[in-house]
Amino acid sequence: MSDAVSVSDSVSGAHVPTTRKQIVVGVGGGIAAYKSCALIRSFTEAGHHVRVVPTESALQFVGKATFEALSGNPVQTGVFADVPQVPHVRLGQEADLVVIAPATADLMARAASGRADDLLTGTLLTARCPVLFAPAMHTEMWEHPATVANVATLRSYGAIVLEPASGRLTGKDTGAGRLPEPEEIAGLAALLLERRDALPRDLEGKRVVVSAGGTREPLDPVRFLGNRSSGKQGYAIARLAAQRGADVVLVSGYTAGISEPAAVTTVHVRTAQEMQAVIDREAAQCDAVVMAAAVADFRPTTLVGSKIKKGDGEPDSIELTKNPDILAGIVQARRDGAVAPETVIVGFAAETGDEDGDVLTYARAKLARKGCDLLVVNAVGDGKAFEVDHNDGWLLSADGSEVALEHGSKSLLASRVLDAVSGSLK
Ligand code: CTP
Repeated sequence: MSDAVSVSDSVSGAHVPTTRKQIVVGVGGGIAAYKSCALIRSFTEAGHHVRVVPTESALQFVGKATFEALSGNPVQTGVFADVPQVPHVRLGQEADLVVIAPATADLMARAASGRADDLLTGTLLTARCPVLFAPAMHTEMWEHPATVANVATLRSYGAIVLEPASGRLTGKDTGAGRLPEPEEIAGLAALLLERRDALPRDLEGKRVVVSAGGTREPLDPVRFLGNRSSGKQGYAIARLAAQRGADVVLVSGYTAGISEPAAVTTVHVRTAQEMQAVIDREAAQCDAVVMAAAVADFRPTTLVGSKIKKGDGEPDSIELTKNPDILAGIVQARRDGAVAPETVIVGFAAETGDEDGDVLTYARAKLARKGCDLLVVNAVGDGKAFEVDHNDGWLLSADGSEVALEHGSKSLLASRVLDAVSGSLK
């Protein structure tokens, strides 16, 4: 049920062709129901046709009029409205994607046991498209064996049940059970529309370390050497790895203000040396390391304690010192035994190519020089890769295989990289 539309790219503002999809947003009766409004808005702004199906108790938190205004479509909760249209069958059959946000413990219990006592559960039984549950509840409810069993049942039926975020819950308590941010749910939903098999649980029990963003090398208290990395690609890998079941540590340099992914331990660092210290520590006990960060190759040799002023005594030039190559260091540590021999090591290469060689020629040389197992190669320049939401490239393996990565979202590229990581894990 799709037709072509043109929507505005949220980052570049350019109009990009996309496909209008039918999305059902199911809303469970929890306090996080208010966040579904931002999710609905992001789907309609992306040009999709949205039908909101709340439970009766969701309407205790957000009024029907709000859902109707945001989606531009009528809203009902039961199966006895609009009967000639058989909505409990039609909505599910026609949907390209069903997203339940928030998915409460009760709603997941009803879905897991195949109940069809309202329009939303009826829709879930008739949907054959990807179904994404974004749980939100108190930690005790999330960890209760009944909920754990219901989540496992839903996953065994092919549904995707996201890991919730940790943090402040309804009251003063904190813990796992927060709804992931609407932009994160929207991103994962968009990925499922690009690739419905993008979120398998193939990394359960694995520990993955991901670096992202750019390092900043200070010159004085107000100036630094930095780069244009937005961190989007590394964050997409960390976010997806967690949702594929991995225990993820994200070592983040500076980014374009991306929010921390749900169910990921994020460690913020500033300089290459700080990043190296954290990566070295984490790499010693993990299954895969993905170095997506843009690490500054050089730092000012001297850090001046107060702001450098123009005039007498101003420096003519800035002396630089080479930073450690973190990726090469992990490969060396694996050779030396400080990192386990089966740890999969992934590097990234942003290349422009020049008169001496094209992007792939440089990338092959880099893979050999760095000694990693996989190298993700992006062609950069001309508005490609940096600060935008789309990416493409190649995936080179130490075994000599070279796979082209199709143009798509950074989440799509992340899913391809994780397929390769998962395939390489012992
Ligand atoms: N990298 C690293 N430490 C550095 C520089 C880069 O770990 N000091 C990692 C990056 O995270 C990336 C890979 O090495 O995974 C390649 O980064 P890139 O900047 O393309 O490579 P360089 O070794 O700096 O090579 P170039 O001469 O092309 O800049």
